[in-house]
Amino acid sequence: ATEPDLAGRRVVISAGGTREAIDPVRFLGNHSSGRQGYALARTAAARGADVTLVAANVSLPDPAGIRLVRVGSAVELAEAMEAERGGADALVMTAAVADFRPVTSAASKIKKSGAAPAPIELVENPDILAGLVESRKKERTGQTIVGFAAETDDVIDNGRAKLARKGCDLLVVNEVGGGKAFGTDDNKATVLGADGTVVDIPTGPKEDLADRVWDLVVERLPDRAS
Ligand code: C5P
Repeated sequence: ATEPDLAGRRVVISAGGTREAIDPVRFLGNHSSGRQGYALARTAAARGADVTLVAANVSLPDPAGIRLVRVGSAVELAEAMEAERGGADALVMTAAVADFRPVTSAASKIKKSGAAPAPIELVENPDILAGLVESRKKERTGQTIVGFAAETDDVIDNGRAKLARKGCDLLVVNEVGGGKAFGTDDNKATVLGADGTVVDIPTGPKEDLADRVWDLVVERLPDRAS
C-alpha cells in the first residue's frame, strides 16, 4: 500500500503544452502530451495530497479525485498558477510553456492574399516558474517549487545553470533525444537540488519518476505547525 505521506498537503501541478493564438483557428504550440504531469497528479493523490492539476491542452482522461483547471495559453497558465499557488505545499511545473506568443491574434481567419505572407511578430512570454519563485519570496512559507527541463547534452551542467536561473528548489532534467521522453511512457531523469543534491532516476514508467519526485518533495516539507 502507498504511504499517505502527502496527507493534509496541497499540491499544484501544471501539465501539457500552451497554445498561442495566431488567429481564431491557428496557434503556435508544442507536442507535450501532459502524461508526466498527470502521473504526478495521480501519484500525489494516491499519497493523500489535495491535488490541483492545471492542464494546458491535454487530451487525456480526467483523473479521478483531482481538481482540474483547464487553460490554453501561457498567459492563462500564468494566471491560473498565481491564483492557485497560495497555501500550496508544493508547485510542480511540468507544462511546456511557449517561450513566445504572437503580439496580436487576428480577429478573423488569416487568408491567402496572393501577396507575400505577413510575418508573425512575437513577444516573449513570462517565465511562470521564475514568477512563482518571485511570489514566494514575499512570504514566509515552506513551499517547495519544482521545475522540469529537457536537455539533449551536458545534462548536469545545463541543468545546474537552469536551476540557478529559475531559482526553484528542484529541477527534474529529462534526457531527450533518441526517442526518450516526448509522448512515451518511459522517462529517465536526473533531479538537481538547489542544495547541491543530484539524484538519478533510472528509465522507467512516468509514474515511478513521479513517485521519486514526491519522495524528494516530502523530504523538504516543513513539519506541520503543531
Ligand atoms: O527554460 P525552459 O523552458 O527549459 O524551462 C523549463 C521549465 O520552466 C519547466 O518547468 C517549465 O514549465 C517552466 N517554464 C515556465 N515558463 C516559461 C518557460 C518555461 O514556467 N515561459
